[in-house]
Amino acid sequence: MTIQRVKSKWAKTKVLLNSEQLRARIPVTKVWSPSSLEQLLQEFGMLYVKPDQGTFGIGVIRVEKQSEISYSYQHDTKIMQFASFEELARSLQRLIGSRRYLIQQGIQLLRYEGRRFDIRIMVQHNSQRMWETTGIIGRLSHPKKIVTNYHSGGTPMSIDELMSPHLQQGQINGYKTWLAEIGTSTARQLQTKYPGLKEIGIDLAIDESFLPWILEVNTLPDPFIFRKLNDKSVFLRIHRYCVGYGRFKRRAK
Ligand SMILES: Nc1ncnc2c1ncn2[C@@H]1O[C@H](COP(=O)(O)OP(=O)(O)OP(=O)(O)O)[C@@H](O)[C@H]1O
Ligand SMILES: [Mg+2]
Repeated sequence: MTIQRVKSKWAKTKVLLNSEQLRARIPVTKVWSPSSLEQLLQEFGMLYVKPDQGTFGIGVIRVEKQSEISYSYQHDTKIMQFASFEELARSLQRLIGSRRYLIQQGIQLLRYEGRRFDIRIMVQHNSQRMWETTGIIGRLSHPKKIVTNYHSGGTPMSIDELMSPHLQQGQINGYKTWLAEIGTSTARQLQTKYPGLKEIGIDLAIDESFLPWILEVNTLPDPFIFRKLNDKSVFLRIHRYCVGYGRFKRRAK
């Protein structure tokens, strides 16, 4: 029995867009083209441009339009400025080359002590072969970076801590329940197209009005990030479920 993996972010996004409930939680996403860039920049002012099959936040670019004569993008820690849309688009096209890239409506991430953070939600098949959200963890970005990935200097933190300046504990508990439901709905929707999935990791943004947005879904999610939580039972359960569907052979200690 093999566990299904799907690399293309675009393929996964299209399946999620078929769900009316989830569609409202997905930022507008298009395949890269200079004309889509112009249109979405006009509409949203800030965009993320990223590889269709990226990992670790590599190649992710944040693009902004400040005015008709001021555009910029940031790639890693490097910021580039342009005086026209044409110059911006030419520079980005050179960077992207012939690779498949996506353009996504940028979400203004909520901050904690001035740094942006987003959320990773782990959803797994349990012993009854039902989808269950088994872990939720926040990732605080490096102050100079535009991505939150651990491999790019992001710091894993509990969502309770990250949300504590924004919501009361009772509200945070309710919010986590909402995220857990988004997790299982996302898994069920993806399973309509990919029946061999057993686990997914959702990258989710929370905007400044506390609305959650699904940035992408990983089909080979990292379970070990959950080791960073003080509550050790979370990782142990995630690991146990991994053993259950055959990702790992032995029980964790
Ligand atoms: N539309 C967006 N709005 C705001 N931030 C975004 C957006 N898209 C991506 N990001 C930021 O960039 C990070 C990396 O993007 P994404 O998760 O799509 O690619 P990836 O991490 O390279 O892929 P993988 O998770 O498979 O390794 C996200 O975790 C998030 O912090
Ligand atoms: Mg990611």
